[in-house]
Order: sequence, then C-alpha cells, then structure tokens
Amino acid sequence: MERAERIKKIPPYLFAQIDKKIAELKSKGIDVISLGIGDPDLPTPPNIVEAMKKAVEVKEYHRYPDYEGSLEFREAVSTYYKNRFNVSLDPRSEVMALIGSKEGIAHIFLAFVNPGDYVLIPDPAYPVYKTAAIFAGGIPYTMPLLEENNFLPDFSKIDEEILKKAKLMFLCYPNNPTGAVASEEFFMEAIELAKKYDIILCHDSAYAEITYDGYKAPSILSFPGAKDIAVEFGSLSKPYRMTGWRIGYAVGNSEIIQGLGIVKTNVDSGQFTAIQKAGIEALLGPQDSIKEMNDIFKKRRDLVVNTLREIGIDVKSPKATFYIWVKVPEGYSSSSFAEKLIEQAAVVVTPGSAYGEYGEGYVRISLTTPDHRLMEAMERIKKISF
Ligand code: MLT
Repeated sequence: MERAERIKKIPPYLFAQIDKKIAELKSKGIDVISLGIGDPDLPTPPNIVEAMKKAVEVKEYHRYPDYEGSLEFREAVSTYYKNRFNVSLDPRSEVMALIGSKEGIAHIFLAFVNPGDYVLIPDPAYPVYKTAAIFAGGIPYTMPLLEENNFLPDFSKIDEEILKKAKLMFLCYPNNPTGAVASEEFFMEAIELAKKYDIILCHDSAYAEITYDGYKAPSILSFPGAKDIAVEFGSLSKPYRMTGWRIGYAVGNSEIIQGLGIVKTNVDSGQFTAIQKAGIEALLGPQDSIKEMNDIFKKRRDLVVNTLREIGIDVKSPKATFYIWVKVPEGYSSSSFAEKLIEQAAVVVTPGSAYGEYGEGYVRISLTTPDHRLMEAMERIKKISF
C-alpha cells in the first residue's frame, strides 16, 4: 500500500526503533543495558496508584470522559500552577487535559499550521516537533542549539523574512536532549520575539520538576506577556513516573487552547476519567516523592559524569532532566560511538544525530535505569578503549 506523501518524509519513530534493536539483542541472549529512552524506572508513587484503584471502581467513570478533561482535573492543574509557579489559570478556558503531552504537541500543529507555513524548530530536539510540523504540511525551519550558546537558539540569526512568515515556534527547557536550562532573559526574549512577529510560542516543560543543585525551572507563563502568545505542555510522566498512564496537559493562551480543543474533540475522546483522578492526586497530593526521585537521579548523574571524566570524556553536569549529553571522542560520529557501546559493552545510548543534524557529534545517556544496572553499564564502558 502506498503511504501518504507526508508519511514518506517521516523516519520511523526513534524510540520504537531503539526498542526493536534492544529486543533483537536480547533475543540473541545478550544482557543489554538500555540508557536510551527517558522512561523512569522508579515506580509511580503509591498514593497515586491507590487513587486510581478507587477511581476505577466508580461506574460512571467507565463511560466517555469529558473531551477536554474533567473540570476537576483542569482545576487541579490550575491549582498546581498557582502553587508551583504563582501563575493563575482559568481552568475552563486556559487548561486542557491531554493523553500524554506528546499527543497535544503533535495536535497543536494540526490546529494552527497551514501547508507551507514556517515553523521554528530547535535542533537537536525531541523528534515529535519536526514530525508533527511535517504532518501538518508546515516547513520546519531549524534553530541550531549549539554548545557555544549554551544550547539556546540564537534568535538574531533567524532571517527576518522567515520570522515574518513563521506561524509557530517550539522551545523546551529544561531541554531534551541536551539537559540545558534557560535563563529568565532568554524566556523574555522568546516572548518578545513571538509577540513582535505574531508567532504561537509553544513550550514543552516535561522536565520542569527534574532539577538539581538548587535549580528550580520556571514556567514560561510566569513571564509578563506570555499568555498573549504562549502555551505550555506539561506531563505527569516524568515527575510522577507515569509514562504508561498517558496523562498531561496544555495550559496558557485561551484561543490557542480552544484551537487545540477543536482538533482533540474531533480525533480523540479524552483521557479515562479514572486516570485523570489519579492525575489529580499526583498534582495536589504530597510532593515529597519528587525530591526523593531527584536525589536518586542526582547520584546517578554524578556517577555517569564522573565515570566519563575518568576515562577522558569531557562532559557537563546538567542542572536538570535525567539526560547527559555527551560529546563523542575524536574520530567517532554519534552513531559509530553508539554502535561501539552496543558492540563492546552491550550498552544502548541514543545517537545525538537522531535528534537532528546539530545533534551529530553527541550521544544522549538516560539515567532512568536502576542504580545497579547503571553502575554495571559504567563498569563495562570503563573497560573499552576509545
Ligand atoms: C525521551 O526519551 O526523549 C522521552 O522519554 C520520549 C517521550 O517523552 O516520548
């Protein structure tokens, strides 16, 4: 069957490919350690699981959920934003539940991008931004994230003609895959630019709670003027270890949220109300487990950073996310280095080139593997000569 032209332009989904590779190695009896996808190994906190168990017994929750999320879930998101970021949100018009933030990230393009519109996409980046832009017929315009600019896009390098034609821009800080964080000045600059050129500003804040060394990530909505042009995508996957549950939200400018709602009400029927109930418990219940989790990730971060430095690989220690973005040693490409780790250590990392052309020369190591496996992976890597 011939696939649609827009699908032909899209590579297979990165992490699905990595899963296949891991399954293939395991089927050969190889003891693979995956430092690939960012899928927390730590369990969902028990209070959230308990809330789900209770909710699943409620018969009326077995029927269709509210398309845009229950008002109770949207109120919980709004309360969380007030408590965590001091941002006020109207739960009726400025908050929408998502079936995981990936779903909303993809659908926002369908709501606002016309075929031929430019969309400003960082590179390296979570692959979904570019893929969704192509699905919508948009033209992705690459904003390189370079180490010399602390992995922030340099807006002054974007041609004014492109800015005039751009419909939408994506940003993500704390950043996947580089682990970089953005300053307040950067967020202000992004908001001013988006307002000046009438660009919808989308911020992926999936990693806002995964922070270390006293760093606290802001919401883009906490900066003046943001609500005029911005929406933020949040996920319960990472802070509450709920990747399999598929629950997230979009918040911010009400017109943008309503546009996203038109796509969603037409293509999906919302998230299971019992899962939204568990999400409410996550957002409003005790938050101690986030600190406990970050303490674990911080130890793992230090272990990986120290091991790499010991073997002569220079690496920055990220203040946020559970990713280490590693420059590969001289003489290697992203994929040849990743291949070497698979062949000689049975350790899977993601080649930076999979996140875009500016990811070439790096690999991403995810810390979402139990301590003893991560230690084992580091021991195996230490034995390789590069
Ligand atoms: C990643 O590893 O980049 C993420 O876990 C993928 C995702 O959030 O879908």
